[in-house]
Amino acid sequence: MGRVFVSRQLPGRAIAILQEAGHAVEVWPGELPPSPGILAARVRGADALLALLTDRIDADLLEQSPRLRVVANMAAGYDNVDPGMAAGAGVWVTNTPGVLAETTADFAFALLLDSGRRVTESANSARAGEWRTWSPGGFLGLDVHGATLGIVGMGEIGQAVARRGLGFGMRVLFCGRPGQTSKAGPPGTEQVSLAELLAASDFVSLHVPLTESTRRLIGARELAAMKRTAFLVNTARGSVVDQDALVKALVTGEIAGAALDVTDPEPLPGGHALYSLPNVVVTPHIASASVATRSRMAEMAAANIVAVLAGEQPPNAVNRPQSPRRLP
Ligand code: GLV
Repeated sequence: MGRVFVSRQLPGRAIAILQEAGHAVEVWPGELPPSPGILAARVRGADALLALLTDRIDADLLEQSPRLRVVANMAAGYDNVDPGMAAGAGVWVTNTPGVLAETTADFAFALLLDSGRRVTESANSARAGEWRTWSPGGFLGLDVHGATLGIVGMGEIGQAVARRGLGFGMRVLFCGRPGQTSKAGPPGTEQVSLAELLAASDFVSLHVPLTESTRRLIGARELAAMKRTAFLVNTARGSVVDQDALVKALVTGEIAGAALDVTDPEPLPGGHALYSLPNVVVTPHIASASVATRSRMAEMAAANIVAVLAGEQPPNAVNRPQSPRRLP
């Protein structure tokens, strides 16, 4: 029997899966994440941590938690923990690939449609009582069908967004992550350089993980290279974009608008400039938030813990400790 700390209440059967495997589970009851100090204190005696992307896992925490054998992240991204550092400490890190690609792509497309067709902006106006008549020139947007979609990052989420773009009759361009050979896109998509993609796209949608090579990948120069009529959609990580440069580009009309499910920092503080711009939609990092997908993500994280505590290799490891920690 192992001791598992779960850093938030979860949907689905994740807790039952852990308990059915005979583990003692402690669930953090708060609506907000445990502070770093509380997290470290709770993990100190645990064999496994089911973590969220809001939990920063650093070398100190691993050092202070000698029993800890696995950090099972309930997310596809794992920029909250350095997998190499954890492997060095003998700790597995796992993620939840596959299950959230279609759900996240649905949301990226929702943001794309929202920004191009001014859904949130016009709905807010109607709600505020400003709908006075059918107006021939009111809330004119950008047609999505026939537009060019530029996808940065052709992993499984990028692929799923590309299929939606093709289904909407868009021309779909893509480029891979800097310094990496990209996977092929679905038939009908065209691989180009980032510079070509930025210059040609009406919608630029980001689907790269946050790494040192993608941090601030979209900065002032890249925003200036986009069409003035183009929209930026970000469902990846906030730090992939230089947010100050983005605000400037939006204020000066260098790009037409942005739809952001991720920001830097998160949550984006109330009163931030991005909230005051009519051509910006900000959502609170919910691209994978469907009932089914969030349940499956939690259950997958639980299954990774069950495997490690049974002495097996976890199915969704993102690192490979040379000498995995064993039960004391
Ligand atoms: C969410 O952002 C994830 O990485 O799963």
